Amino acid sequence: MSSNPEQLPAIAAGSGVPRHVAVVMDGNGRWAQARFLPRPAGHRAGVDAVRRIVEACGRRGVKVLTLFAFSSENWTRPEEEVSVLMDLMLRTLEKEASRLHENNVRVRMIGDRSRFSHRLQRQIAAAEELTADNTGLTLVIAVSYGGRWDLAQAARRIAEAVQDGSLDPEQVNESLVEGMLNTADLPPTDLLIRTGGESRISNFLLWQLAYAELYFTPVLWPDFREAHLDEAFDWYAGRERRFGRTSEQLGRVSRA
Ligand code: IPE
Ligand code: IPE
Ligand code: MG
Repeated sequence: MSSNPEQLPAIAAGSGVPRHVAVVMDGNGRWAQARFLPRPAGHRAGVDAVRRIVEACGRRGVKVLTLFAFSSENWTRPEEEVSVLMDLMLRTLEKEASRLHENNVRVRMIGDRSRFSHRLQRQIAAAEELTADNTGLTLVIAVSYGGRWDLAQAARRIAEAVQDGSLDPEQVNESLVEGMLNTADLPPTDLLIRTGGESRISNFLLWQLAYAELYFTPVLWPDFREAHLDEAFDWYAGRERRFGRTSEQLGRVSRA
């Protein structure tokens, strides 16, 4: 980062709505269990929460919303649950793509899509293509995604570039690595929200969360409403984002 304090990223308390919000949507299974319903019912209710929060983020002027829908580790769940989740993803994309497009939302998927069915891969590509030129909210859906996987695939591509002679190891720096991640052209994550009561990252955006504000709430994802989002945003607006500096330095910058 530049040593010029004028070039610090968005800083100081009250800086308003986060530009890039990431969400670990956790608690679907417990929501269903509490109602004596099978786990898939929780996942279906989770889709309704996604719809609400996408719309709410759009209205509040969030630029990027990244939703953790299925982790690299979630492949280890019972086969039946994995297949329900994949099916739900396919149906939701089929159903919602045109509405998202009408609302000027740009859809993107990050993760290892080689593990998906051809049909799901085609549906993802179609939704991305349809919405590619939209200028509203960018909705990033992380499916079959893991932060370690993302870093490993970046390392592999860098190694390949060195091997074929197009890159000198001397050129490997933070911005080069960042440019190789699945999130390359997105702004840094400002706020991470995790529902469901756990205080962990679960292999989500490891690199990208380096300076995010972390907000954990016990609310289960299917119960997450616009008012909960506002609570998280209010909390975020009260953070002083120092990026390694002192409060006094920030005071000087915001007065400048
Ligand atoms: C999050 O809810 C959704 C996915 C991980 C796909 P869970 O299914 O993890 O719900 P809990 O944590 O068991 O309640
Ligand atoms: C994290 O939730 C992944 C998603 C929400 C997609 P998990 O429920 O899989 O997380 P752990 O396993 O409890 O850490
Ligand atoms: Mg969970």
